[in-house]
Amino acid sequence: MHSKTVLVTGGTGGIGKETARALVAMGARVVVVGRDRVRAEAAARELGGNGTGVSSVTADLSRLAGLHALADEMRARHDRLDVLVNNLGGVVAPRTLTEDGVEATFAVNVLAPYALTCLLLPLLRAASDARVVNLTGGIPGGPVDPSNLEAEKRFVGWTFSQYNQAKTALMAMSRRFAARVADEGVTVNVAYPGHAYTPGNRAMTAAAFPFVYRPLVPLLRFLGPRLMNDMARPTRSTVHLATSPEMRNVTGVYVNAKAERTPWPASVLDESVCDAVWDRCERHSGIAP
Ligand SMILES: NC(=O)c1ccc[n+]([C@@H]2O[C@H](COP(=O)([O-])OP(=O)(O)OC[C@H]3O[C@@H](n4cnc5c(N)ncnc54)[C@H](OP(=O)(O)O)[C@@H]3O)[C@@H](O)[C@H]2O)c1
Repeated sequence: MHSKTVLVTGGTGGIGKETARALVAMGARVVVVGRDRVRAEAAARELGGNGTGVSSVTADLSRLAGLHALADEMRARHDRLDVLVNNLGGVVAPRTLTEDGVEATFAVNVLAPYALTCLLLPLLRAASDARVVNLTGGIPGGPVDPSNLEAEKRFVGWTFSQYNQAKTALMAMSRRFAARVADEGVTVNVAYPGHAYTPGNRAMTAAAFPFVYRPLVPLLRFLGPRLMNDMARPTRSTVHLATSPEMRNVTGVYVNAKAERTPWPASVLDESVCDAVWDRCERHSGIAP
């Protein structure tokens, strides 16, 4: 990865930070993104050590203005982007609209990777082996209701509902994106990281869990840091897609937490789902690849 430039969203904490750490160790020049300047600069210092291989950008990627600002900053600083890791994601409950009027879980998990990839395509096209890696999560692959993509009709904020649908929608969008840019030397693939006890997990309130599980939340908080403390494991699938020579020119695939190729779930192969997700992303962002 020497002389390669990599951008990791959510790279100042959790799985993103560990992914950035692994890529730095492989010699990449890494840019990490978070919302808070002090935290972002501290992460860059920690990851970069005494070298100059890591820099940070501060932007709120739940907002279109933040996504545009990040892309502008990247274009100002770099003439090429080799790898974009759309790691940012999570659950926002109860239902919340962003300042752009987008349901927030959809905004961070689906719209942000779509819009950022569109905006950075000129830099990606300038690389010889450009790769985009999008992170899924939860229990992806369940049904996607095109008329309830942003929980317009019904919001179930529990971990395994709106979040799952958004991650399945992300996979559908990624598959379509891969097909759209297949002739442009840019690959788009999806990684499932597996579980880790991260700032996102720690911030989840009991309201994010179904009623029956809520009494178990204190136990999960106790066990989480003990059972999910291997922070290298959830970077494996992303690092494989981002760096492995065997993934060169391979696009439109999905790998599990062991970095094994896994079939797309049926809902992701449903072209009407892909159409609905794609149209929504295009409409909200006003941009297309
Ligand atoms: N953790 C798990 O068990 C698990 C399991 C399966 C899949 N995943 C997926 O893996 C990815 C990473 O998960 P994680 O648990 O590591 O996430 P996390 O702990 O919530 O990630 C924290 C990082 O995201 C940044 N961030 C949060 N909101 C942001 C925003 N609006 N704009 C810009 N940056 C923002 C934080 O920056 P600041 O706080 O510094 O602003 C920090 O760098 C997600 O896509 C998640 O869905 C996670």
